[in-house]
Amino acid sequence: MEAEPMIIAPHNIEQLREEFPLLHQKVNGSPLIYLDNAATTQKPLYVIESITNYYTGYNANIHRGVHHLANLATDAFEKARNKVKRFISASTDSEIIFTSGTTDAINLVAQTFGKSTLQKGDEILLSVMEHHSNIVPWQMVAESTGAKIRVIPITSSGEWDLSALDTLIGERTRIVAVNHVSNALGTINPVKILIDKAHIAGAKVLIDGAQAIAHIPVHVGYLDCDFYCFSGHKMYGPTGTGVLYGKKELLEMMPPYRGGGEMIETVSFENTTFNRLPHKFEAGTPNIEGVIALGAAIEFIEQLGWEWMNEQEELLLQAATEMLHSIEGVKIYGTSKHKVPVVSFLAEGIHPYDLGTLLDKQGIAVRTGHHCTQPLWDWYKISGTLRASFSVYNNLEEIGIFKQALLKAISLLK
Ligand code: ALA
Repeated sequence: MEAEPMIIAPHNIEQLREEFPLLHQKVNGSPLIYLDNAATTQKPLYVIESITNYYTGYNANIHRGVHHLANLATDAFEKARNKVKRFISASTDSEIIFTSGTTDAINLVAQTFGKSTLQKGDEILLSVMEHHSNIVPWQMVAESTGAKIRVIPITSSGEWDLSALDTLIGERTRIVAVNHVSNALGTINPVKILIDKAHIAGAKVLIDGAQAIAHIPVHVGYLDCDFYCFSGHKMYGPTGTGVLYGKKELLEMMPPYRGGGEMIETVSFENTTFNRLPHKFEAGTPNIEGVIALGAAIEFIEQLGWEWMNEQEELLLQAATEMLHSIEGVKIYGTSKHKVPVVSFLAEGIHPYDLGTLLDKQGIAVRTGHHCTQPLWDWYKISGTLRASFSVYNNLEEIGIFKQALLKAISLLK
C-alpha cells in the first residue's frame, strides 16, 4: 500500500497559518499582521526543517568528495536543481544556475552576455516600472560599452503603453530587460507579447521574475524568454538563494562571471579551461542548505497548487482594493485588471512614513517609501507610497483589522 503523501501545505487558511510559526506573535502589543510579502515571504516549517535536517544530518561540501555525506549533500543539491527545472519548465537542469538572488542573476547576465555582445550605439530596452536592480546593472554595462538605455512608458493605470513598442524596438535593440510583475504596482505584464516582438527584431529578452514566481505559474519554454531570474526568499524559501534560467546555447557562449573553484575544468598558470554548464557559473561553495530549502519551498507551492493559491490571492486583492477605495482621501497606484495581491496607496496629505509608523504601532507590517523604483514614482510625480502585499496565509479578518488601524492612524495624522 502506498503511503499517504505528507501534508505540508494544507488547503485551509487557519491550518496553513500553523505552518508559519513567525505569524503567531504580538508586535507592539497587537497580533502581527504581516503585509510585506513582496519584500520577503515568511517561511513554512517544512522549509525551515529542511535547513535543520541538512545541518544535523548531512552537512558536507558538494561535487567534491567521495564520502557518504558529500554524496548525500550533492544529491540533495542537484535534486533541488531538477525541482527548479520542473517548476519553470526549462528543458534541462544545465539551464538552471543558482545565484544569491535576482539581483545577482541580472548582474551576471549584464556583465557576461551584455558586456561581451553590446557595442556603441546598441540599445537596451527597460520599462518605467523596473526595480533598481533591473536598471543599475544595465546602466553599468551601457557605460562601459557605449550602449544606450531606452524606456517603455506606462499608462496611468500602471500598465506598459504597448503603443510605444513599435517605435522603441528596432534594429539597434539588443537586449530587453523587464519585470514580469511590478513590485511596486502589482501589475502582471504581458511579457509574451514583448518577447515575441523583441525576437522579431533580433533582441534577447531577460525577465525579472522576482515578484511573479510566488504568484503565477511560469513556463519559460512557452514564454520563450532568453533569461528568467528570481529569488528564493520571495517564494517561501531562504534569503541568499536565487535562480538564473538561461537558454542553453546562450549560457554556453557567455564568458564566465566569477572565477574560482568548481567553475573550472583544468587550471595551470598558462591556461584555464572552464567547467560545463551549469557549474561554469557557480564558482566557490554555494549556499548549499539554501538551495536545498528552495527545493522544499517549491514542493510547498506545488502542494498548495496554483488554482487554490490564485483563488485565495484574488480574494485578498479584491477585498484590500475595495477596503482602500472605501476610505476617503486614499488613492491606489496601480489599477490594472491583471495584478498580484499588491496594493500601493497614499492617504491625501499624509506622509507614507508617518502612516506606516502608526500602522506598525498597531502590529501591522507594510512597506513605505520608493520600493526601489524611483523612476516609476518620478513618472507619477510622487516620492513613494505605502504598499500592502499579501500572501496565501493572510485572511479577510486581517484586512478588516487593517482598515480599522488605517482609519485610526489617518484620523490622528490629519
Ligand atoms: N524588491 C523587494 C520589494 O519590493 C525588496 O520590497
